[in-house]
Amino acid sequence: MILFKKSSDITNYLQRNSKSGFRIGFVPTMGALHQGHISLIDISKKANSFTVCSIFVNPTQFNDAKDFDNYPSTIEKDIDALEKAGCDILFLPSVLEMYPNGTQNALSYDLGYLETVLEGKYRPGHFQGVCLVVHRLLNIIPAHQLYLGQKDYQQCMVIKKLVEIEKIKTTINICPTLRENSGLAMSSRNMRLSDKDKKLALILFETLSYLKKNIKPGELSELKQTAIYNLINAGFKVDYIEIADAGNLDIIEHWDGNRKLVAVAAAFLGEVRLIDNLLLSA
Ligand code: PAJ
Repeated sequence: MILFKKSSDITNYLQRNSKSGFRIGFVPTMGALHQGHISLIDISKKANSFTVCSIFVNPTQFNDAKDFDNYPSTIEKDIDALEKAGCDILFLPSVLEMYPNGTQNALSYDLGYLETVLEGKYRPGHFQGVCLVVHRLLNIIPAHQLYLGQKDYQQCMVIKKLVEIEKIKTTINICPTLRENSGLAMSSRNMRLSDKDKKLALILFETLSYLKKNIKPGELSELKQTAIYNLINAGFKVDYIEIADAGNLDIIEHWDGNRKLVAVAAAFLGEVRLIDNLLLSA
């Protein structure tokens, strides 16, 4: 695996190696890699001539300074895991490399409704930061294919919108969420959970599964209330648990039995904020 720290170096390298039929698959991450990240590398490797991974803990997407300070970093282990997975290139930039002109006058993106609900509502500014970094990364790495995890459902929709707004010619691939045997979605933030909280954390997935099993056409408020109660009772501080239209994230209060739905949740265990989602209907 080749490691680049400078954006001009990786861009030049990719340009030099570009020939007809050459395809770049790209997996952006913030490191503290787990099997979920590696599954994206595996998927990219099957479809591309080069797989690039980036590790950059992007300060502009953290609305909570404590979360940024506590974000886990396991860079040696990450490099090892990427080598083993057969990743071709790792891009490991500094903050200055990513934002040479600072972020004071950064672009702002018109994300519309997506920025007002769920993660957008509870993490103000978060998706602007995600767009800023992904936009910059895609300028540096002209990827044919971008691989994202369904784990961050709303982020996938936001990045789709970014690519549309900015007319970026990269195809977005949304890949399944990898889970522990317990059902807990793999996440870098799980490393910060105590052993006791790790056992409790799987209740988030169980609650989403409860919604999937029990949803019926008609009013959804009682079902949602039971889900919230279930999480609070287990010791979570709940930001939201909602049932939404899987295509546009409209919050659904009354289901006609036809719209494709996704259940989405965000809740704290102690200081650790967990998010997860589950498609409810085919
Ligand atoms: P990060 O949380 O490191 O995630 C990097 C990618 O891995 C994202 O596309 C995320 O959805 C995916 N991922 C995380 N957990 C997963 C799991 N259990 N199964 C499958 N895929 C999973 O998301 C970010 O970083 C950042 O916001 C980023 C897009 C890199 C921009 O800074």
